[in-house]
Amino acid sequence: SKLVGLVGWRGMVGSVLMDRMVQEKDFDLIEPMFFSTSNAGGAAPSMAKNETTLKDAFDIEQLKRCEIIITAQGGDYTTEVFPKLRAAGWNGHWIDAASTLRMKDDAVIILDPVNMPVIKDALAKGGKNWVGGNCTVSCMLMGVGALYKAGLVEWMSTQTYQAASGGGAQHMRELLKQFGTLNAEVKALLDDPKSAILEIDRKIIAKQRSLSDAETANFGVPLGGSLIPWIDKDLGNGVSREEWKGMAETNKILGQGEGFGSPAVPVDGFCVRIGAMRCHSQALTFKLKKDVPLADIEAMIAADNPWVKVVPNTREATIRDLTPVAVTGTLSIPVGRLRKMAMGPEYLGAFTIGDQLLWGAAEPLRRMLRILLD
Ligand code: HSE
Repeated sequence: SKLVGLVGWRGMVGSVLMDRMVQEKDFDLIEPMFFSTSNAGGAAPSMAKNETTLKDAFDIEQLKRCEIIITAQGGDYTTEVFPKLRAAGWNGHWIDAASTLRMKDDAVIILDPVNMPVIKDALAKGGKNWVGGNCTVSCMLMGVGALYKAGLVEWMSTQTYQAASGGGAQHMRELLKQFGTLNAEVKALLDDPKSAILEIDRKIIAKQRSLSDAETANFGVPLGGSLIPWIDKDLGNGVSREEWKGMAETNKILGQGEGFGSPAVPVDGFCVRIGAMRCHSQALTFKLKKDVPLADIEAMIAADNPWVKVVPNTREATIRDLTPVAVTGTLSIPVGRLRKMAMGPEYLGAFTIGDQLLWGAAEPLRRMLRILLD
């Protein structure tokens, strides 16, 4: 079986990837070779077969032995190692979770339930670089990709509600610590049912405003009990890098727009960090190219892939099935709140959620491995 190098398998995305690969018995089909940036020579995890020691993740000669490399080590690692590896003549398949190579012409953004034709086309042309998409974009397209595939979308506006995990493991810890600090600040008052809510409120805002630098080191400002309407870099034109990715990556995944000789579908909106743990949620507004009956739209979305699930647009179904708490740890992609909007019959509203670590990160990588093994 093929020698497959695994880098960054111990981090958050890497750990989710390992769990999924075990669940789906991917290791039965490969000879894994585990790499480490800090513990070369140590023992590889139990999935190892013949390569039982950890190899140095910066050792180009060892990396070159692999026919396929999957990395969730992060962008700095990709920036440093990938060019050296190719320069050394390595011709294997590179499957990467980081954004470094995503927009390069010779890289495909992998999300096979949505863009298998784009992947197959690149494979036929000798493509070797496979990069997972931005989590928000991937989860969105898993939900409403059907509308794009049908060519129905004139434009889409997104308002996101992104979880702490998008920043990384430390961000999740920071959020929970802030919640704890805030709770401790008013615990005695909360325990007294007769205490005044405005006194609790005053104490909470005072505490939020006086959190130490250490307590806000990752997000920069408090997130617990607040929100942050800016994610990733400031591009200097009023747009955040996360917002820019929405249009750039959606079109690239679908194989349209710049570089594909067809017009890009405009995608724009605001990306907001909220105090959820690991599910990204999004409110979407579509301008459709024509008035399609809502029932047809629901049927189209529901039939698109095995993971998408249309949630009836009722209060009861929505609060039960369309929340980060309901979705976390599952591959389910619920799409709900589907309705025509007041602006006219071509305007469609929707709300969708996905686990940012599964469809948003790990799952497309292991599925690309399977495609390469077929
Ligand atoms: N940029 C995303 C976020 C994470 O911060 O939520 C992964 O694409």
